[in-house]
Amino acid sequence: MKKILGIIGSPRKNGNTHILVSRILEGAQTAGAEVELLFLNDLTIRECDGCHACWNGHECSKRDDMNAVYPKIIESDVLIFGTPVYWYAPTALMKGFIDRFVYFNCPENRAKIKNKSAALAVPFEEDNPETASVLIEFFERCFDYLEMKIVGRIIVPGVTHRGEILRKEDRLEESFLLGKSLV
Ligand SMILES: Cc1cc2nc3c(=O)[nH]c(=O)nc-3n(C[C@H](O)[C@H](O)[C@H](O)COP(=O)(O)O)c2cc1C
Repeated sequence: MKKILGIIGSPRKNGNTHILVSRILEGAQTAGAEVELLFLNDLTIRECDGCHACWNGHECSKRDDMNAVYPKIIESDVLIFGTPVYWYAPTALMKGFIDRFVYFNCPENRAKIKNKSAALAVPFEEDNPETASVLIEFFERCFDYLEMKIVGRIIVPGVTHRGEILRKEDRLEESFLLGKSLV
């Protein structure tokens, strides 16, 4: 059975990112996947300081919740990265999470992430789709580097308030279908 892990980088529960990622996971579940949702704001994930303990076969020296998240990442077939645009970039929560992917940047650990599929879910306020271009390039370059593949993306301009995305039924349907297609 395929495992799909949704990661929410917005601090806002029941916000637009949460709704989008949940809809993708609903689609995946309907198609038979085992799904799990992680709220980064519920976890303690500290900054990577490049000590490289993880490159020497040790547990991350931060000894925080990320040590329990690494196995979830490794066991998943697809990772859904959900973040709103914050100042033309991912949220600090999401950036801090990706910084901890340094773990996968040594030969022993690279094999655990290589070829893993990823999808993006990105809502934001402005109407101009270019608003998300730096954020998308950030993910593309990180995943290229890590030898992962982006298999889907839902980019939703024009949503500001918590849950406003519920009005965009077409984008939610698209998210559901993306989830189904991932399985
Ligand atoms: C700190 C902060 C920075 C933001 N920066 C941008 C921005 O640069 N461009 C934009 O279009 N929206 C920006 N927004 C608006 C959010 O992207 C928008 O409200 C989004 O729908 C929030 O998603 P959420 O409900 O999942 O938290 C910002 C919001 C916050 C709180």
